[in-house]
Amino acid sequence: MRNRQHLHKVAILLAGLLLVSCSQKAEEGTTPSTDSDILSIMIEEMDPAADGIWQSAGWIITEEGEQELWPTTDEGWQTVVDSAERLKALSAELDAPVYSAVGKPWSLSLVRLTEASDAARVAAEARDKQGLFDAGGDIYRACLMCHLRYAREAELSGSDTSE
Ligand code: HEC
Repeated sequence: MRNRQHLHKVAILLAGLLLVSCSQKAEEGTTPSTDSDILSIMIEEMDPAADGIWQSAGWIITEEGEQELWPTTDEGWQTVVDSAERLKALSAELDAPVYSAVGKPWSLSLVRLTEASDAARVAAEARDKQGLFDAGGDIYRACLMCHLRYAREAELSGSDTSE
């Protein structure tokens, strides 16, 4: 139960970080419709699905010491499996011609995301903590690979946001 609360705090923290790193791009003028479609997929679907994995693998340091984030119940692990399956489905969706017209490197990041999502699912099914942690890192790198190239400005890379 106590763990739950900590998980919650981490969730809020991560959400906050993403908002901070992203909010500055909002007023950048007119956005073609597929771009805003992509943006809403990212915010409403991609991000929560990735959080379903990132918030369930690793450690956080709190006042009470180090806490593990990995699930401790079958339901918790199942949530990770579900998130991994959603991420994979979203990768397939974004690879549709309407989105992938921008070219090959776009698809490559989706291949990476698909592979990493599969790895996360397999690790969660096997209750493999290290495997899930590693897959979480690979997922992050796949997000970054696409963002660095296609999400205008490199703020999503986590670089300094001075405002
Ligand atoms: C195939 C390319 C691609 C991949 C892979 C990708 N994204 Fe994105 N993402 C984009 C693009 C393009 C934008 C910018 C959309 C816009 O501003 O119109 C974006 C924007 C975002 C935003 C909104 C940032 C803002 O401007 O407010 C979030 C959040 C996000 N992505 C999360 C993720 C996460 C989490 C992953 C990995 C699990 C991921 N994305 C993987 C292409 C991608």
